Amino acid sequence: MNSQTLREARKYEEASEKMIPADHRPSFHLSVRTGWMNDPNGFSYYKGRYHMFYQYYPYDSHWDSMHWGHAVSDDLLHWEYLPAALAPDESYDRDGCFSGNAMTLPDGRQLLMYTGVVQERQKNKAVVDWQNQCIAVGDGVDYEKYENNPVIDAKDLPEGFSRQDFRDPKLWRKSDGTYRCIVGNRPADGSGQILLFSSPDCFSWKYEKVFAANNNRFGLMWECPDFFMLDGSAVLLVSPQDMLPEGFEYHNGNGTLCLIGDYDEKTDTFTEQHNQSVDYGIDFYAPQTVLTPDGRRIMIGWMQNWDTCNFRSQNVSWFGQMSLPRELHVRDGRLYQTPVRELDQLRRNRVDYQNVLVSEQVHLEGIRGRRVDMELTIRPEDGQEVYHEFMLNFAQNDKYHTTLSYHTRNSILKIDRKFSGSRRAIIHQRRSLVNSKNGELKLRVILDRFSAEIFVNDGEQVMTATIYTEQEADGISFSADGAVRMDITRYELADYTGGKKD
Ligand code: FRU
Repeated sequence: MNSQTLREARKYEEASEKMIPADHRPSFHLSVRTGWMNDPNGFSYYKGRYHMFYQYYPYDSHWDSMHWGHAVSDDLLHWEYLPAALAPDESYDRDGCFSGNAMTLPDGRQLLMYTGVVQERQKNKAVVDWQNQCIAVGDGVDYEKYENNPVIDAKDLPEGFSRQDFRDPKLWRKSDGTYRCIVGNRPADGSGQILLFSSPDCFSWKYEKVFAANNNRFGLMWECPDFFMLDGSAVLLVSPQDMLPEGFEYHNGNGTLCLIGDYDEKTDTFTEQHNQSVDYGIDFYAPQTVLTPDGRRIMIGWMQNWDTCNFRSQNVSWFGQMSLPRELHVRDGRLYQTPVRELDQLRRNRVDYQNVLVSEQVHLEGIRGRRVDMELTIRPEDGQEVYHEFMLNFAQNDKYHTTLSYHTRNSILKIDRKFSGSRRAIIHQRRSLVNSKNGELKLRVILDRFSAEIFVNDGEQVMTATIYTEQEADGISFSADGAVRMDITRYELADYTGGKKD
């Protein structure tokens, strides 16, 4: 039986979704049905479709008591909303159903595991969160919370482990049929750690050990872990809070971290070998992955940034979108990401130019738009000194532009959205060190109304940023300090808005 709280949320979202004009949303990125969205949750393939749940407050476009929104898709690009799956309606989750994950049970039902949050006001008036792991079981639309929740109670954690920062379970099933789950937590020194639990059936859980420890290296608390094997390596994704910058690899604030190493399945031991950022742009956090029926590992992140997400224009009734689904690979100890291949089916009206000389500002006939997939390769003009800087402007008109610039001197690729219509003193730029031999660079740029995702050197790095520039600003231009030769292929991307496939 659905609670009154869930029934109200379902009624509200159905009515208010209709107030959002289709072209006020991204076209092929999942956005919130109405109100506010943060982390992807329970990203899974169930009953022949992809399911994406998400952190959700339906009643306003800011973060508040967390529900789970729900959408399904056949191709990861065209999403259909289903009714909200979870609401904060029990004594053990009354202040929020925080992030979590999904698992198909042997009997065919889908289990959702999430963090139940209860807030308590202390004598000094401070409010503290108590966080425990809970489950709900359902059929892909309706979910019933388990009578013995919480299934992992923070009171049972070892001495010194935080009971307030204990969240975001990720599940997997081992080859022997038993289950494992990892959860973000903090030891007494305030750093982050990932804890491992085991279960024979996904309902009763036992604490095993610390699966990975931050030791105060990458930020403090580690949120939203994901763990999987890929191309013979073990990959642990986490989203650290309160990062300090490290060169151009990690930046201040909430970040994304990918640890690549080995996993011994017998002893459940993860050994870390390499670390890197997952995304080098401004807006990407808390990613989750799914394994497709044809064996691909696909990742989607929240395309936003906790430090800037409260600075938006007041008159929007939705806030929050997911990144493009990205296919992952590990090569030479490094994570590679490419746009999911299903995106190719959206490509329309190809335009090609070879060997374009770019020095002054160049506009190319047929190259404009805000739903665009562009592949560019740049190199220095033959027989000339390597150029100093190459610039790509998009979302451009007389008043606005967002710029991607590449400086050969230090091999820095920079995204700058200062002129994207933002009226707040938030972060507008991010720089990333990229690999280039002699000024050669390969870029794939995907635009979808309110975002830009830049895949560098066939997925070696990605830079993601949201932009809210008015849609009329759809110009694209190129310029250089020095002489650049450029090959470019551009496609328009079909509009999937409102379920319509053109
Ligand atoms: C990450 C996060 C999670 C938490 C959720 C709450 O963005 O802070 O750790 O479960 O958001 O909405």
